Amino acid sequence: MNKFIRTDIKDEVGVITLDRPDVLNALNREMVDEIVAAMENFDQNEEAKVIVIKGNGKAFVAGADIDEMADDDSIRMELLNQFAVWDRISLIKKPVIAAVHGFALGGGFELALSCDIIFASEKAQMGFPEVKLGVMPGAGGTQRLTKAMGKAKALEWLWLGDPMEAKEAMHYGVINRIIPEEALMEETMTFAKKLTKQAPLSLRLIKESVNKAVDSTIYDGMQFERKNFYLLFSSLDQKEGMQAFIEKRLPNFEGR
Ligand code: HXC
Repeated sequence: MNKFIRTDIKDEVGVITLDRPDVLNALNREMVDEIVAAMENFDQNEEAKVIVIKGNGKAFVAGADIDEMADDDSIRMELLNQFAVWDRISLIKKPVIAAVHGFALGGGFELALSCDIIFASEKAQMGFPEVKLGVMPGAGGTQRLTKAMGKAKALEWLWLGDPMEAKEAMHYGVINRIIPEEALMEETMTFAKKLTKQAPLSLRLIKESVNKAVDSTIYDGMQFERKNFYLLFSSLDQKEGMQAFIEKRLPNFEGR
């Protein structure tokens, strides 16, 4: 039984709702455990083809729980090894979409950046205020923001610690779409539902290949891409998809 999140499946979309609204969904460690376990459960559950994560209340997530870590020291942090849990997010195979409204700060922005796609409300504010607390991002923020916007701009945001408005985040290619707040969930779900109709294996291997592109040279990435491309030609969905095209009908994908 989860204490800090809620989960449900709607139209083949597994939805994770972050549910600590009194503290703007600040992430304590137990909550991160719950989020990652929920993602892994949906990843293995055939009833969910896409995963959406959103916040309840005024914000997506206002950061890691400052009360929880205020008295920590480095040795305790090392022994806790809390980021081993975060690392598991990058092993999720299904598409993961963050629907961000309100604040996505610190660990909350890192959580959003760990997803594949970010849809943000026009009033969303994203950023890394850690510098103002005398710390820095620890769950991939310096790496993912830099990959998204380049070194010079990332340093500016990370050093100043100011929140970025959705328009700026969009300008730098950090988010996919800006949506009016009242339409955020509807548009996110419409997009997610479109993905549920695509060939699941294609989605999966495209995700893996795109992530490889972020982490490797073009040449290595292309070799990796090629192997995945070949692999899809062993799937029934490839046969079905191409046959349907030839027969001028819609494909019926089964994920095999
Ligand atoms: C614990 C938090 C919190 C946080 C908000 N709250 N953010 N509690 N950890 N990160 C709590 C507040 O204490 C308050 O509780 C309640 O949520 C509502 O927040 P307010 O401050 O009253 O709301 P508002 O005035 O609207 O200001 C919103 C805010 C501000 C600008 C987002 O709350 C804020 O600056 N929060 C901290 C943001 C931050 O520094 N995040 C980075 C954390 S470090 P009470 O009980 O008073 O009502 C981090 C490191 C990641 O994330 C490392 C890897 C995981």
